Amino acid sequence: MNKKSMVLAVSLGLMTATNVAVAQMAQQPAKLNTCIGCHGVDGNSVVPNFPKLAGQHAAYLEKALKDYRDGFRRDESMAAFARGLTDEEIRELAEYYSQQTPR
Ligand code: HEC
Repeated sequence: MNKKSMVLAVSLGLMTATNVAVAQMAQQPAKLNTCIGCHGVDGNSVVPNFPKLAGQHAAYLEKALKDYRDGFRRDESMAAFARGLTDEEIRELAEYYSQQTPR
């Protein structure tokens, strides 16, 4: 391998590593920051009156969020945070939290 192809190989490797890092970050839903204060970044809330979401079924989380948003389930704090979410954002959040490990 000459010097030029060595440089090429190394930079291709770096590009791949960067893409993997970006892909992992991209898995975090856009609206996650609004939830982590109460439910934790991985859905394991530390305060007992904030339910744990980690590992919960995605379909259940999705329904709960839509119910808060659409007024079928009433809770003042959750209604405030669910209100602005689109169906797509809800699906992403539900998918994300369902994939986290409960502890
Ligand atoms: C201010 C704190 C707070 C924030 C911020 C918050 N939540 Fe909640 N969340 C709660 C509380 C309290 C409950 C329980 C409400 C109840 O009794 O129905 C809850 C309940 C839930 C539930 C239902 C859980 C279950 O087991 O039924 C889901 C799903 C949920 N939150 C998702 C989210 C998501 C997603 C976000 C971000 C968009 C978020 N929450 C932001 C406090 C919060």
